[in-house]
Amino acid sequence: MNLKLLFLFLFLAVILSTAETKPRKHKKHHRHRHPHHHHNHEHDHDHGPHDIRGHKHGKHAKRKERFQDIINDFFFGYMGEIPDDDDDDDPSEWLYDLQEPEGQCNPNPCENNGVCKEKGKNKFKCNCRKPFKGRRCERGPKICKRGTCGRGECVLTSTPPFYECKCRHPFQPPNCRTFNLCEPNPCKNGGQCVRDGNDFDCTCPSGFRGRFCHVGPNDCFEEDGESYRGTVSETIDGDECLYWNSHFILEKGTDPFNSFEDSDGLGPHNFCRNPDGDLTPWCFYRRGQKLLWNYCDVDECPEDGSDTPPPTVRPVPVDPPKIPTPPRPTPEKPKPTPAPTQKPTQSPQPSEASPTPTLSSNQFSTCGRPQPKKVMTRIFGGLKVPPGALPWQVSLQVRPKRTTQPYKHICGGVLIDSCWILTAGHCIERGNDMQVVMGGLSLDADEPSEQVFNVEEAVVHENYRETPVSVHNDIALLRLEGTNGFCANETQFVKAACLPEGPMADGEECTISGWGATEESDYGSNHLLEANVLLINQEKCSESKIYGSSLDNSMFCAGYLQGGVDSCQGDSGGPLTCKRNNVHVLYGLVSWGDQCGAKNKPGVYARVTHFLDWIKSKTQTSS
Ligand code: ARG
Repeated sequence: MNLKLLFLFLFLAVILSTAETKPRKHKKHHRHRHPHHHHNHEHDHDHGPHDIRGHKHGKHAKRKERFQDIINDFFFGYMGEIPDDDDDDDPSEWLYDLQEPEGQCNPNPCENNGVCKEKGKNKFKCNCRKPFKGRRCERGPKICKRGTCGRGECVLTSTPPFYECKCRHPFQPPNCRTFNLCEPNPCKNGGQCVRDGNDFDCTCPSGFRGRFCHVGPNDCFEEDGESYRGTVSETIDGDECLYWNSHFILEKGTDPFNSFEDSDGLGPHNFCRNPDGDLTPWCFYRRGQKLLWNYCDVDECPEDGSDTPPPTVRPVPVDPPKIPTPPRPTPEKPKPTPAPTQKPTQSPQPSEASPTPTLSSNQFSTCGRPQPKKVMTRIFGGLKVPPGALPWQVSLQVRPKRTTQPYKHICGGVLIDSCWILTAGHCIERGNDMQVVMGGLSLDADEPSEQVFNVEEAVVHENYRETPVSVHNDIALLRLEGTNGFCANETQFVKAACLPEGPMADGEECTISGWGATEESDYGSNHLLEANVLLINQEKCSESKIYGSSLDNSMFCAGYLQGGVDSCQGDSGGPLTCKRNNVHVLYGLVSWGDQCGAKNKPGVYARVTHFLDWIKSKTQTSS
């Protein structure tokens, strides 16, 4: 590394950060729409619960990343120093210890098929397969090491050296370490570069906009913007979009090119797109170390009839179809869940065959086998669930008895057989009529895949008991109203979950889902969301600083002790499933928790294995 350059840089940084800072200019373009996530929520709270799904999606003042911000961006703190591949201080290491998995090699802490060896007490060593490294073999070869691209984004390409630096202007290629404000002129389409202290502004010819005047006058999208191929590369809050082939996105466990139904519009560029049927074009952006997404500052095309030119924009000189399936630096690391993901290799189960569900009256041909899905890893903390991915999730809805008011979602539930739903005991309200909706993802839309049933009978556990701090035996069975003992029809979107046969290992990663409250909205999400949580050791969770003696054997904890991902109000009764031999097994029902996503206050789930006999006896006798 060129030391002189580094010093010059530091010197400049100091000078600049002490220099008088000019007030930022906010150039906000007119927008036609300002879509919100999922559904309109009027408030953004600043201290909202950090539940399943939630980064703050601020309606912050529009931010524009200027020279000063780029210099101050902590993310670039490694300027020039390229950390060694062998350094072992993985920040997620301590997370793993926090969940206190039993035994050192079970579950296998080694990722990427590393082989675990126990080494004395509380120690293990992973023998990694090439080319993986790290304490848990979590690290693959790194082409885009921190610092490789100075103050720029490292994107992956299909030809050697397999990466390219996309500099944040005014930093200059190839390595984004030097900078130049107006030379060469960064403004496109005849824009004029005007120096503005340490920054620059492009004065655009009329009709052109964007930080570099790169957005043309006809740049707009139609309908949901699926066909949008324009060049807007900023979010509605002014954040600069990441390149779709950015290393940072992959590093966070998302591969846009393999995640969405319709990746045609994606390419080695950072233009907004809508590859997954969202409301409008959107893009990923980075804030600190977080990968976030937001809708884009794109205009909707004016309604036709006017004299406006054809809608979908001047073609953009990009998208060579040979977009690399870039080498994944850390393959198979389904983040954003910040923790170990490897399932135990040795499983107490017999083998590949379908487990025998414990239910007697099996009217469904299978259980626990979702519709094969294209992973859709869109993150706002949580993930939107694609159709058929959680076909056992149901919405339990109520309305006052003998009224015709609309039904309202109050809880989740789980389909375990054609006429049987498991839910939480505390979800049963006697004064109400109840219905169960299954096969849908959106609460406010009537989806053709939906099936709706009245509840004929609700059986709450005999020992269900609420105390001010806890809910014991929080489980209930709902018998659906059907014909000839037949209710739900097994389809692509409606399937049963399997009941468990025995305990799962601490530290195992399982899935929770629901329409409950999110950090975005206290009222819950309109679209079904899912997230991954880790099973937490029972003794650990019974420590006094966690739940002490509020926890009994009919419950267990799952989540992250450091806080963050969690279930929340409205998710109750919904599933926590874990995979066994590729089959989803219902291990818990969302029950309670102190706040949502708080540190040392993970979610508490009814322990389904504890109630297997109860479930069997109730479903046998009353059907
Ligand atoms: N009791 C809540 C409900 O009725 C579920 C709360 C779960 N809380 C948590 N922090 N995990 O929906």
